[in-house]
Amino acid sequence: MDVGIDAGGTLIKVAYTQKGKVHFEKYPIAEIEQVAHWVNKLDDCQVCVTGGKSGVLISLLDRPAQEMMEFEATHLGVQVLLEESGDLEDAYLITNVGTGTSIHCIQDNAQERLGGTGVGGGTLIGLSHLLTGVTHYDEIIALASQGSRDRIDLKVKHIYEGKEPPIPGELTASNFGQNFLAISDELTTEELLATVIGLVGETVSTVSVQAARQCRSSTIVYIGSSFIDNPLLKEVVTSYTILRGSVPVFPKNGEYSGAVGAMSAITKKTK
Ligand SMILES: Nc1ncnc2c1ncn2[C@@H]1O[C@H](COP(=O)(O)OP(=O)(O)OP(=O)(O)O)[C@@H](O)[C@H]1O
Ligand SMILES: [Mg+2]
Repeated sequence: MDVGIDAGGTLIKVAYTQKGKVHFEKYPIAEIEQVAHWVNKLDDCQVCVTGGKSGVLISLLDRPAQEMMEFEATHLGVQVLLEESGDLEDAYLITNVGTGTSIHCIQDNAQERLGGTGVGGGTLIGLSHLLTGVTHYDEIIALASQGSRDRIDLKVKHIYEGKEPPIPGELTASNFGQNFLAISDELTTEELLATVIGLVGETVSTVSVQAARQCRSSTIVYIGSSFIDNPLLKEVVTSYTILRGSVPVFPKNGEYSGAVGAMSAITKKTK
């Protein structure tokens, strides 16, 4: 059995092949010991680990494991997933919206990190909790999908009153920038959470389309667990990416890119 594990800041993602079939599992990073225990009990397996917590995981394993640099594992995993879906291009960007956000250019078969932003999935959870008291990811995204950003975000058209704006009026001029002081008590949890997702989505897509200028491609492959069951974040990211002339792609199982890359590295080495 080949096991690839991506131990990130928030979630630990596992990809493994069994009887020719690939399985995916994810756990909160707090359960890293249980994951190590599961690996330690496997009979015949090869393991490759990646991610910021790979060192912690290796220290908990009682069998040898390969270790892979996170960005290389992510690149290889995205390549495998895009090949499977027939979407692989020569050059593309990867934006990994994990706890934080990291942006990479892939060209000439090599990965280069172009930058990132501290606004990511951690911001989604942290800011949502501080603003509304809602803690769980599933609840945050369910409530956000019922909310509107109209009373909280300031649009370009609100600033350019009675005048044609030089950029599309529907663009956000300022996230959380409306003059809502008089109604701040009335704002609902749904509205606040939708606006947090708007902030995260617009920030990651803005930084991504700007980074695309430094890459030969304008295809942006968005991965990371922040998109899991999160149609609102996907919608914000998709519409802004398209508006700015880039092409968004959300590969199936994209959140497992690092784990798939780690698993594939084993396969490549030994078969
Ligand atoms: N079940 C879940 N529990 C907590 N967060 C979740 C869950 N499902 C999705 N998320 C979202 O996914 C984010 C983490 O994404 P991901 O797993 O890609 O990051 P990571 O690999 O742990 O972090 P990093 O790559 O930055 O070290 C969380 O911040 C949250 O917004
Ligand atoms: Mg990660």
